[in-house]
Amino acid sequence: MTLEQKVRKLRETIERHNRLYYVEDAPQITDAEYDALMRELQQLEERHPELRSADSPTQRVGGAPLSEFAEVRHRAPMLSINNAFDEEEVRAFDRRVRETLGVEAVEYAAEPKFDGLAISLTYRQGLFAQGATRGDGVTGEDVTPNLRAVGAIPLRIAGKTDLEVRGEVLMYKRDFDKLNERQRAAGQKEYVNPRNAAAGAVRQLDSKITASRRLRFFAYALISESPAGTHSAALDRLEKLGFPVSGERDTVSGADGLLAYYARIGKRRDKLPYAIDGVVYKVNRFDWQEKLGFVSRAPRFALAHKYPAEEQSTEVLGIEVQVGRTGALTPVAKLKPVFVGGVTVSNATLHNEDELRRKDVRKGDTVIVRRAGDVIPEVVSVQLDRRPPGSEEFEFPKRCPICGSAVVRSDDEAVARCSGGLFCAAQRKQALLHFASRRAMDIEGLGEKIVDQLVEKDLVRTPADLYKLGIEDLAGLERMAEKSAANLRAALDHSKRTTLERFIYALGIRNVGESTARDFARHFGDLPPLLEASEPALLQVPDVGPVVARSVRQFLDEEHNRRVIDELIRTGVSWPKSEPAPRGHGGATKTFVLTGTLSGMSRDEARAAIEAKGHKVAGSVSKKTDYVVAGEDAGSKLEKARALGVRVLEEKEFLEVLGGL
Ligand code: IVH
Repeated sequence: MTLEQKVRKLRETIERHNRLYYVEDAPQITDAEYDALMRELQQLEERHPELRSADSPTQRVGGAPLSEFAEVRHRAPMLSINNAFDEEEVRAFDRRVRETLGVEAVEYAAEPKFDGLAISLTYRQGLFAQGATRGDGVTGEDVTPNLRAVGAIPLRIAGKTDLEVRGEVLMYKRDFDKLNERQRAAGQKEYVNPRNAAAGAVRQLDSKITASRRLRFFAYALISESPAGTHSAALDRLEKLGFPVSGERDTVSGADGLLAYYARIGKRRDKLPYAIDGVVYKVNRFDWQEKLGFVSRAPRFALAHKYPAEEQSTEVLGIEVQVGRTGALTPVAKLKPVFVGGVTVSNATLHNEDELRRKDVRKGDTVIVRRAGDVIPEVVSVQLDRRPPGSEEFEFPKRCPICGSAVVRSDDEAVARCSGGLFCAAQRKQALLHFASRRAMDIEGLGEKIVDQLVEKDLVRTPADLYKLGIEDLAGLERMAEKSAANLRAALDHSKRTTLERFIYALGIRNVGESTARDFARHFGDLPPLLEASEPALLQVPDVGPVVARSVRQFLDEEHNRRVIDELIRTGVSWPKSEPAPRGHGGATKTFVLTGTLSGMSRDEARAAIEAKGHKVAGSVSKKTDYVVAGEDAGSKLEKARALGVRVLEEKEFLEVLGGL
């Protein structure tokens, strides 16, 4: 293979992968492999300048920065299109077209309205010769080196053709997200939306920056001298020439066809990889387009049917923290009402504490709000240049705004939660439904509709209140006949006799599911030792890790949760007690008594270690005591042990003995 052949082959390979990536959206090699091919070609061209060529993919990577853009006068003006916002305007458009043409029905080419930057590409003798922005429609800017850097734009097309192609440069949403991630990581300003990022990249004096942005291009018009045929055929031809053309394009008939297309694309809008702000309808036949002509600066043959804007800017009136049914705290921006995504929005989520910090949204800020499809409106970014002086960073609450319980957040979670559990009004309905559910207390007939009423009428605040309901309370509820009230009352009574594991599960402690509840029940045998168990003691329960241990402790340390538990027991909730499951190695359970101060661990920790092995800790020394563990300043218990002949262990011995049990 001659050197020339080798270079040609390399160029073809690179352009093929370019097409696979940008046009077909189906890359076959990794970025690293692509970069390696490019480097190889660059080196060959550097060593052999005679082989350089304007259509080489190396010409895409950008050259020396320009000091300004040259002006380009468009051969035919780049027009705008009239907009329609509702069905009536679309029907009126079709009516006018039919009347002007004097025909019964019209075929339209329909395609997405890309939300990017309009450009014009000129090819001479099959080579990309010039690229320009739309500018004011008559004159634009010569951005040829930048457009060369757009991988989706072919540098050479089949045949020695002269032609002009118009279309839109844009950035895929996923590439935009990645770009912003990089900006954030580098501590630099984030872009507001893909259109701004794409437009900024095209109107760059340094084409190296353009090259680094992964811009895309979609062709939507072929400007030819002889307007024969149809727009849809022109798009097919562009596609064959290697230009990306939207796969969403279609031809439809009449106003009904247009509206159906609008609805169909509207449903897919969120799923498209790029942003669109509407769809464009064009009379398909070129001869009819010509006949229809223009009014001022817009053609009579085309119409842009817009979707409601998904982003708007508005003012933040305040920031509130809401508590969800599971106790999750969500910061919400209260907004000056704004019409976005087809509805008026006055609240937008800030997701969580970290997001709020990252975006640094403050009262008085002007923000971009986004509402895409069914998604809850969110604050995208703050327009820092419009921030009023003296504004203050929002402080995330440390106590639940509903019930005042401590707000907790585990290290591996983005969500902060109220630890109020049973006590927190926001979590009440959820907590009650869980409490009554089949695998918990199994209260038959206590479903969502009834729980809603009980909470809303303030008849029930905690699960314990359920057991205090009389038949007359229940019979007063909607959809509740005397008979069903009696049934529910009976079900409540019936549920009181339960098992410890169901009871623990029913409390709805975060991270404590059925199987963990069972582990606790087996390990502790009854409720009181669980209530008193320290975090280290909880950690001794098989399969219990620090996250569970911590949330159990947090739950039980809330005074009001303890009160609910006490009340439940007072109203008669009970379970058969069992001996804690012996752990250890099948040996008999030993009884320890702790006295004095240990140096390496606290009393709680020592107790936990003993209990973890299935042994017991007693408060006083008797003949049944197996070991007395004596720390510093041990007192009367030590004397008693000696008197009774009970084995006394120093701290170090204790650990050895325990280890061997
Ligand atoms: S056709 C004669 N087709 O919309 C009609 N324009 O108001 C010429 N646009 O900035 C335009 N997607 O860049 C056409 N599929 C599409 C389009 C489209 C986006 C933009 C165009 C221009 C504006 C026209």
